[in-house]
Amino acid sequence: MRGAVYVNGKIAPADQAVVPVYDHGFVYGEGVYETLRSYNLVPFLYDRHMRRLRQSADRLLLDVPFDDATMLQWIDQTVTAAGQLNEAYIRILLTRGVGDLTYDPKSTPTPTTVIIVKPLEEPPARVFNDGIRISLVDMLRNHPRSVNPIIKSNNLLNNALAMQAAYRAGAEEALMCNYRGELTECSQANFFMVRGGAAVTPQSAAGLLEGVTRAYIFELGKELGIDVREETLTPKDLETADEMFITSTTRELSPVVNVDGRAVGSGKPGPVTKKLLELYQRRAQELTRALTTKR
Ligand code: PDD
Repeated sequence: MRGAVYVNGKIAPADQAVVPVYDHGFVYGEGVYETLRSYNLVPFLYDRHMRRLRQSADRLLLDVPFDDATMLQWIDQTVTAAGQLNEAYIRILLTRGVGDLTYDPKSTPTPTTVIIVKPLEEPPARVFNDGIRISLVDMLRNHPRSVNPIIKSNNLLNNALAMQAAYRAGAEEALMCNYRGELTECSQANFFMVRGGAAVTPQSAAGLLEGVTRAYIFELGKELGIDVREETLTPKDLETADEMFITSTTRELSPVVNVDGRAVGSGKPGPVTKKLLELYQRRAQELTRALTTKR
């Protein structure tokens, strides 16, 4: 384990950072998180991640005991403590905190704040050059009236079980349906398919995490004159896709060329995916470079 971890004001080497076992994040999975990455050692789309963290915390009636500027200082300190990094993987976790084993929030007056910083492992070049294989798994994405997928929650059992099925299928991501049999998202990424030149992605109402990268793709599409829109999609639609890609902070846009052994389109990353990816990577560099000069 490399890197450094901030826990409630103290920064320790990754293998020495601890939280008490009575933390409700540990015993109940009660908490929320954000994963960010840096470009030019500056966290990308920071404001958007912090907005989503607050929205997730709100749904758990969990107080966020810091403002964005303070959190950014803590991140900077943890990045510095992590030593020499090309780029940083940054995971912010906020849990209900330590208290008696009861669901009564009164027993946990102080939330726990954790920041994990470690060297970023970029996707290998083959991911962008050749694309990845995904699997449509049996595991359903959580029902929105259960553990709503819109919450970026530390309770990741649904995602972990879906991904176990994908590993068994020899795939690099698990695509999930909702209880109505509509496509939703992957275990750690949002899903897009390209049809007739348009990039379509399941509607938020299908029950999914509204990815920061997903939202950014809508903006890049406007710039490029590529129609990016939400639609209700079902497994049948997978058969007519010209291209597919998944999006996440750490995987950017990763082209998907195979679903459960069936080639997607030409079996190679397609032109719409490549255009969006190229602009995404360019913007990430430009926007963070502009911030480095301001700091
Ligand atoms: N995962 N859907 C799920 C279930 C996710 O876990 C993620 C991100 C996304 C994409 O969100 P974004 O574009 O904001 O990164 C969609 C992060 C990377 C993680 O779990 O570490």
